Amino acid sequence: MLPLPGRIFRVRVAPVAALAVALVSSLSRCSLLEPENRVVSALSPYFGTKTRYEDANPGLLPDPEVPRRDPELLEETCTPVQLVALIRHGTRYPTAKQIRKLRQLHGLLQARAPDKGTRAAGGRDLGAALADWPLWYADWMDGQLVEKGRQDMRQLALRLASLFPALFSRENYGRLQLVTSSKHRCVDSGAAFLQGLWQHYHPGLPPPDVADMECGPPRINDKLMRFFDHCEKFLTQVERNATALYHVEAFKTGPEMQNILKKVAAILQVPVNNLNADLIQVAFFTCSFDLAIKGVKSPWCDVFDIDDAKVLEYLNDLKQYWKRGYGYTINSRSSCTLFQNIFQHLDKAIEQKQSSQPVSSPVILQFGHAETLLPLLSLMGYFKDKEPLTAYNYKEQMHRKFRSGHIVPYASNLIFVLYHCKNAKTPKEEFRVQMLLNEKVLPLAHSQETVSLYEDLKNHYKDILQSCQTTEDCELPKVNTSDEL
Ligand SMILES: *[C@@H]1O[C@H](CO)[C@@H](O)[C@H](O)[C@H]1NC(C)=O
Ligand SMILES: *[C@@H]1O[C@H](CO)[C@@H](O)[C@H](O)[C@H]1NC(C)=O
Repeated sequence: MLPLPGRIFRVRVAPVAALAVALVSSLSRCSLLEPENRVVSALSPYFGTKTRYEDANPGLLPDPEVPRRDPELLEETCTPVQLVALIRHGTRYPTAKQIRKLRQLHGLLQARAPDKGTRAAGGRDLGAALADWPLWYADWMDGQLVEKGRQDMRQLALRLASLFPALFSRENYGRLQLVTSSKHRCVDSGAAFLQGLWQHYHPGLPPPDVADMECGPPRINDKLMRFFDHCEKFLTQVERNATALYHVEAFKTGPEMQNILKKVAAILQVPVNNLNADLIQVAFFTCSFDLAIKGVKSPWCDVFDIDDAKVLEYLNDLKQYWKRGYGYTINSRSSCTLFQNIFQHLDKAIEQKQSSQPVSSPVILQFGHAETLLPLLSLMGYFKDKEPLTAYNYKEQMHRKFRSGHIVPYASNLIFVLYHCKNAKTPKEEFRVQMLLNEKVLPLAHSQETVSLYEDLKNHYKDILQSCQTTEDCELPKVNTSDEL
């Protein structure tokens, strides 16, 4: 069992001297500290990759306990010298494909005979509420970042800046290195993160266009952030392979999903044959989208109970498992260039530090997708269950580690922090590393400790780092054409 990551990082608001500064920055930070009247749903823990960051990370809310920094060692004898952060984009709109399915579902409801709803628990006619439910999603939205998603990023920026003030110093601003996937939602997430930082440095001043910022706009690098699109072996064996997601398809027609189909058909008063698992899943996601994007509770949330939600969460996790996680070796292997890239940054910082040069890139921010983070975490050995997730072991996997909602909610982030440490007893200088997942310390896979000597970490992953020639990993076995003749 992976121990629960230490909940050490509370929101820390730096003391501000000037009143003006305090007023302005309180505007930006208030919404972060106060839960407001945040709309919640009992289904929220089961939304998988559509989970709101604050639902996956309730530690962000104000806590009366005195914040504790952990481990103390790093505070006393170590200084952070570099931070490499992999950040999933913030809250987004549904994709065009999801919107198409939503429209199909809406059509089914509209075609329904009137007055044929089922009474919901509160006496309200759920069928009628669903038929009246406005379909406000349009094609242009296609997976783009929403305003809440920008806020996710600005707030993450502010929290990281107050957690690592030396790294996010004003002087380092121009040296920030930003890399992003080419997708709009990622580019926009990078920009929103920069605007959050701008707010941190210049409270009250409107941020300039990212193109005019000192560090420049995020650089697009899909080979790095969307490695899965560039790995031929992954594309052939998994992405374009109809049988690779066998367990996902089998679960869709299995008994757990069939029960939900029957139940929902009865509630909507539509023939069960008109429904399928994809439509049910999109209905469930509608509850999550309305909640995350608009902060409203859709009547779709009332269609499902917690047992249904757990089944639908499993369906989502099954797909992630077989497409991005441990299901196939190539899923995680395809991320090894990114893994190597992170260590190259850390190596370079150490080299510069050892030769008494300033670290050229103290902060590296890389914006990508859940599909970027999951393979990397799998490559590093995290959230691995003893048994694979299959169509047939839903019950046995009830307490699985691989729960995408806990690992990769919107705005999820995996951060490597490199520290330079002076040992008081020996004159030896040391470099140490901590990893944070969603701002909580992630114990290292090899030791379960919250911190590791850099050498030990590198040594643990040496096989991956040495053998990572993605060009080879991702190449398909050569067909011997002379054999065919
Ligand atoms: C597709 O996936 C199945 C199941 O993993 C596998 O047996 C088959 O070899 C794959 N096909 C290709 C072309 O890789
Ligand atoms: C291809 O097949 C030929 C004939 O069977 C064989 O001599 C040759 O070594 C093979 N080449 C490779 C690269 O396997």
